[in-house]
Amino acid sequence: MEKITISLIKADVGGFPGHSTVRPELKAKATEWMEKAKKEGLLVSYHVLNAGDDLQLLMSHRKGVDSEEIHGLAWETFEAATEVAKELKLHGAGQDLLVDAFSGNIRGMGPGIAEMEFVERGSEPLVAFMMDKTEPGAFNYPIYKIFADPFNTAGLVIDPTMHDGFVFEVWDIKEKKKVFLKCPEELYSLLALIGAKSKYVIKRVFPKGSSPIPEEEPVASISTEKLFFTAGRYVGKDDPVALVRAQGGLPALGEVLEPFSLPYLVSGWMRGSHNGPIMPVPFKYSQCTRFDGPPRVIAAGFQVSHGRLVGTADLFDDPAFDLSRKKAGEIADYMRAHGPFEPHRLPVEEMEYTTLPDVLKKLEGRFEDTE
Ligand code: F6R
Ligand code: MG
Ligand code: MG
Repeated sequence: MEKITISLIKADVGGFPGHSTVRPELKAKATEWMEKAKKEGLLVSYHVLNAGDDLQLLMSHRKGVDSEEIHGLAWETFEAATEVAKELKLHGAGQDLLVDAFSGNIRGMGPGIAEMEFVERGSEPLVAFMMDKTEPGAFNYPIYKIFADPFNTAGLVIDPTMHDGFVFEVWDIKEKKKVFLKCPEELYSLLALIGAKSKYVIKRVFPKGSSPIPEEEPVASISTEKLFFTAGRYVGKDDPVALVRAQGGLPALGEVLEPFSLPYLVSGWMRGSHNGPIMPVPFKYSQCTRFDGPPRVIAAGFQVSHGRLVGTADLFDDPAFDLSRKKAGEIADYMRAHGPFEPHRLPVEEMEYTTLPDVLKKLEGRFEDTE
């Protein structure tokens, strides 16, 4: 059976105004490039979206993951959009394109990427999550809830095809190592790692045992790129993206969305230096304003049909999430009241990846021994 690959690749190539959102001219330029690639047969389908100041390219194709052609297309598209951003003097034009030239694979070059290849089922619902003003570890909590928490996902208890649980691929993004953990058997070990979300990040989830989906096929994939590790300096907070398949032996659409009813705390927000609530918003509110935030997440829903991404459903455009948004506003107030104090400001180890060390350098010579 023919496989389809879904690639979600994003970059901040210029904000309007400041770091709040993406200008329509950039999306129009990206659409031009995507349309050309579709006409040439490289893409089956595509959607150009934005999450805050990040330009999002969602593509379906038959080239597999890590395809040089697809990554190259995304890179060229971001370059073309950067030209537009420079002409409009948008803020931070081209900021996420950290290298001068594309060299075969977009990973490690600045943009964030989530990809999955699988055999399309009779019905293939797919959710693309896109976050702004936070980091890849921000997906640990919801992905854990979706695939391992029976209080979130009733199917883990009720549906025999999900009853054996899932396998989590966790990356240590600092040491560049990975480990596979089976749940529910190794649930406590999984939590021991992923609770430390700045170091351990869920990269992929796989089915197991009773699942109708083959064990080697990912059912979720998350971007893990950290700009600091590539650039060696602060360049924003690595706003992450994720792809999640749903239904028919996988968590239902509603189980996939349910974790976002809690505006849980993530790191990022202003200057990538603060903890704050993540707010689930419809596309029209995907613009980071208050204190450059609060961090936001959008969810785009699709049915994959013969490789085409049939959509888009704006999944958080629902009054059922109004209370979560209100709560996020209240938590934002409470956190903001702490000003520069922890735990609103990130702990010292994480501040190393911000612009604070440059400020502290000035005080270095003034420290005296206490005894
Ligand atoms: C956070 C973010 C913003 C900027 C802030 C300062 O990820 O992008 O909060 O850090 O607006 O931006 P610059 O240094 O560009 O003035
Ligand atoms: Mg920006
Ligand atoms: Mg951003």
